[in-house]
Amino acid sequence: MPRPGSTARRASLAPSIVSPVGSAIQHFRAKVAQENLIKASKIPYAILRATQFFEFIGSIVESGAEDGGVRLSPALIQPVAADDVSAALADLAVGAPVNGTMEIGGPDRFPLDELARRYLAERDDAREVIVDIHARYFGTELNDHSLIAGDGARRGPRRFFSWLGRATRA
Ligand SMILES: NC(=O)c1ccc[n+]([C@@H]2O[C@H](COP(=O)([O-])OP(=O)(O)OC[C@H]3O[C@@H](n4cnc5c(N)ncnc54)[C@H](OP(=O)(O)O)[C@@H]3O)[C@@H](O)[C@H]2O)c1
Repeated sequence: MPRPGSTARRASLAPSIVSPVGSAIQHFRAKVAQENLIKASKIPYAILRATQFFEFIGSIVESGAEDGGVRLSPALIQPVAADDVSAALADLAVGAPVNGTMEIGGPDRFPLDELARRYLAERDDAREVIVDIHARYFGTELNDHSLIAGDGARRGPRRFFSWLGRATRA
């Protein structure tokens, strides 16, 4: 809340997740509930829906682990650097109020199974990736729109495999 006489304005700024609508995933449902509460309030707001963070890709790959391999959907995924999401949130925080929802994704889209193969190879992990269009993503079947940002979305400049190479060597 701004102090009396201050020129600061009160606004809500919330990171959220791309395409959470209708998902069975509890975290996504919570994000939808959060978005709805923010929109229903009288306070100006900006919601930034991001695709999956680079830092979360390892957990996604491991979520498909079974019987010594990894079973994953070939649905498209468009990972984004958490640093690029932070930069976009900072721009929103200091910019003119937007009272709306925006999206951000990374510069590249990959079929999830291919991304996992390259991710495991980068880490010298010999597990086989089995492609399965019915493989569930934390309980939900995916399509090519589930994990990507819309065409008008902001694109973070950082590339996943450059980031991964640095993260693996560190
Ligand atoms: N991960 C993704 O792929 C992804 C994709 C799209 C959007 N998002 C959104 O981006 C945001 C961050 O995601 P994340 O995956 O980085 O989450 P995270 O790993 O769980 O990190 C959340 C951070 O927020 C801090 N935090 C939580 N509650 C807090 C509170 N009440 N006061 C102060 N700090 C608090 C936590 O601190 P402690 O560690 O001390 O608990 C932690 O540092 C979330 O809103 C998420 O929905 C994430």
